[in-house]
Amino acid sequence: MSRSAHPAGPRHADVLPEGHYSAPPTDLNALDPKVWAETVTRTESGAVSVGGLDVTRLAEEFGTPAYFVDETDFRARARAWRTAFGHDADVFYAGKAFLSRAVVRWLYEEGLNLDVCSGGELTTALSAGMPADRIAFHGNNKSEAEITRAVEAGVGRIVLDSFQEIVRVAHIAQGLGRRQRVQIRVTVGVEAHTHEFIATAHEDQKFGIALAGGRAAEAVRRALSLDGLELVGIHSHIGSQIFDMAGFEVAARRVVSLLAQVRDEHGVELPEIDLGGGLGIAYTSDDDPREPHEIAKALGEIVTRECEAARLRTPRISVEPGRAIVGPTAFTLYEVGTVKPLEGLRTYVSVDGGMSDNIRTALYDAEYSVALVSRTSDAEPMLVRVVGKHCESGDIVVKDAFLPADLATGDLIAVPATGAYCRSMASNYNHALRPPVVAVRDGEARVIVRRETEDDLLRLDVG
Ligand code: LLP
Repeated sequence: MSRSAHPAGPRHADVLPEGHYSAPPTDLNALDPKVWAETVTRTESGAVSVGGLDVTRLAEEFGTPAYFVDETDFRARARAWRTAFGHDADVFYAGKAFLSRAVVRWLYEEGLNLDVCSGGELTTALSAGMPADRIAFHGNNKSEAEITRAVEAGVGRIVLDSFQEIVRVAHIAQGLGRRQRVQIRVTVGVEAHTHEFIATAHEDQKFGIALAGGRAAEAVRRALSLDGLELVGIHSHIGSQIFDMAGFEVAARRVVSLLAQVRDEHGVELPEIDLGGGLGIAYTSDDDPREPHEIAKALGEIVTRECEAARLRTPRISVEPGRAIVGPTAFTLYEVGTVKPLEGLRTYVSVDGGMSDNIRTALYDAEYSVALVSRTSDAEPMLVRVVGKHCESGDIVVKDAFLPADLATGDLIAVPATGAYCRSMASNYNHALRPPVVAVRDGEARVIVRRETEDDLLRLDVG
């Protein structure tokens, strides 16, 4: 796949390749439950509602663009993961997908743990009351200050990403009179079937220590020899938006073979294995994600089988889903501005946000769906590209979609499945003000991350 499907230029895809987009849906007013949050539905008035609240009312109260997260759905998905993995396994929500203090509290209440990968995420987690021992700290270049804070706070585990870090964490922990629980992140040589930018377990990338060439075994030897560290397990994360369990199977097999090697060489059976996150969600009706209980069963079986073959006690498994929990629970609400038909090509629909609130289309060539949500329409489908208001022609939110031909300025449209990696990767490009995140539940809406203001921009600009 090309790394840059939309080279910045005056026009994109001016010749529509055959089969590039699917046929128009039979009912443009239908909302596919695969891509919309659980409580999203159409009301009698024709407008869409979430958590019992009409989007037209939400737009009036909170403005657009805005992200609306269905708290009921978030909690249900978190609980489904927790229940699927049961008491013998741990679920660490990957905070990078989207983190706020409200979310941390939901996770805490639903019995999940939390994976953080920066000092900022750690601060958010701790300030919302997540117990430190339920936090895992990740990152390929943690600073001394971050490591110190994590050790002092008493995080449940630090995931070591390099030989340098093994020594650094040991030194800091020892200096603080602590013995820090750690895992070692290994790269298992699996290239998950996904976009190149987000595949992480093949060798030529920045994360982890390779199993190949005995590097990971050497890392284990060093970690075991250092007083400041308590090595509890091995970590692997093979990529993102993965549907095929085969990659996890190979990863689990290779991690277990390292555990067997460690047992043979050091007489130690490491008690934990973390298989990371990366489970795919439905962005469009063409995607078919697996349910948490299927994933839990598949992973549990793979690890148990491999451990039996290696005559190892089955370690405690953990996973780190981010997108699979938060992704489907939110949508972005936009107001339609300019509608520009390009004869023989498509209609460009400009919205009041864009690549500053969803960079994924530009960055990964990601696919999204979109619907008219402020009313229904019986008009014919028209092929559209939903674009933002930024000064850049790659500023595309939804590449190819169908909306009713009577779409007009002032209509509200929504892009589903934007809960993960949209607000968390949002930027101030063109001095855009990052949209709020509004949690909706049982007829009530509350802002959990407020909209940025021009005062916020000026406060950072110290003149
Ligand atoms: N664990 C580790 C160690 C990770 O690096 C990640 C994601 C996860 C868990 C969670 O992965 P998830 O289940 O959310 O796919 N910005 C990209 C995704 C980058 C993910 C980086 N690491 C995107 O928008 O697709």
